[in-house]
Amino acid sequence: MRKIGVLTSGGDSPGMNAAIRAVVRSAIYHDIKVVGIKKGYEGLINGDIEDMNLSSVADIIHRGGTILRTARSEEFKAERGFQKALNVISIFGIEGIVVIGGDGSFRGAEKLSQAGIKTIGLPGTIDNDLAYTDFTIGFDTAVNTVVNAISNIRDTSTSHGRANIIEVMGRHCGDIALYAGLAGGAESIIVPEVPFSIDDICKRLIQGRNRGKLHSIIILAEGVLKDSHEFAKQIEEKTGIETKLTILGHIQRGGSPTAFDRILASRMGGRAVELMMEDKTSRVLGIKGNEIIDMDISEALSIKKEINKNLYELAKILSI
Ligand code: F6P
Repeated sequence: MRKIGVLTSGGDSPGMNAAIRAVVRSAIYHDIKVVGIKKGYEGLINGDIEDMNLSSVADIIHRGGTILRTARSEEFKAERGFQKALNVISIFGIEGIVVIGGDGSFRGAEKLSQAGIKTIGLPGTIDNDLAYTDFTIGFDTAVNTVVNAISNIRDTSTSHGRANIIEVMGRHCGDIALYAGLAGGAESIIVPEVPFSIDDICKRLIQGRNRGKLHSIIILAEGVLKDSHEFAKQIEEKTGIETKLTILGHIQRGGSPTAFDRILASRMGGRAVELMMEDKTSRVLGIKGNEIIDMDISEALSIKKEINKNLYELAKILSI
């Protein structure tokens, strides 16, 4: 293996820079040339590619976002765009590509590997929606961002005696809501994977008030409802408790990665280069029980993500 490329694709996540750094530095250590492909698959289509050296990745381990920038490329999904990308790969003499991103990015990597390009995927998404791995790069940071927001909102919730709904990201996956809700001591956690009843939530709110609780925090995953404003109105009407809604939005996607995400990204980046050297490609990396694992891309994508029911039940028990 003489030359590999690295790209970040889809929604950015904190820790992507640490992963890029690990890929670049491990490759250089093993005498492999590395190029950075800009804006995900778009850079492959347009030849927006540059050589990376040790200092290209200096001073980035602690930075959120991605120095390679990112995009959700529609053009790459179409045959014409894909063929252009294959052409660019051949012109630049790229022998393998490390793709850092979520499931959409992995589908792109799967397509490349079916066309004979050696690919390795690193799970970079705040959503933690990839079933084959315990954690994705960026999830821990996003959860910590939400937990900090819960603490701030809890202060004002207590002062005013209000109910506060906090809507968090995660697309169709409730992991950010569940982990942050458990860590933040939320009264109710609403996730797409588990049906909920508004009456049950109101009952819990009123029970809490009756035993002197001043604050009420409800964590709502974005994939559950069409209109969270309407939901807040209904809670207020049914309980008589003033209810405020905060949609956290893209604040969850940025910020300095936690030590956990930096270490995860570094371990996976280093392993990706080893796998390239072993010629073990068409794989994605994950973490299971604190071991870095790898799995065939298509197999990994075929596993259905489920919510951790034990954690969900525990959160419910602890918030009575
Ligand atoms: O996949 C990461 C994510 O932040 C989701 O949680 C969210 O639904 C989506 O991306 C938002 O995408 P965009 O930044 O393109 O609006």
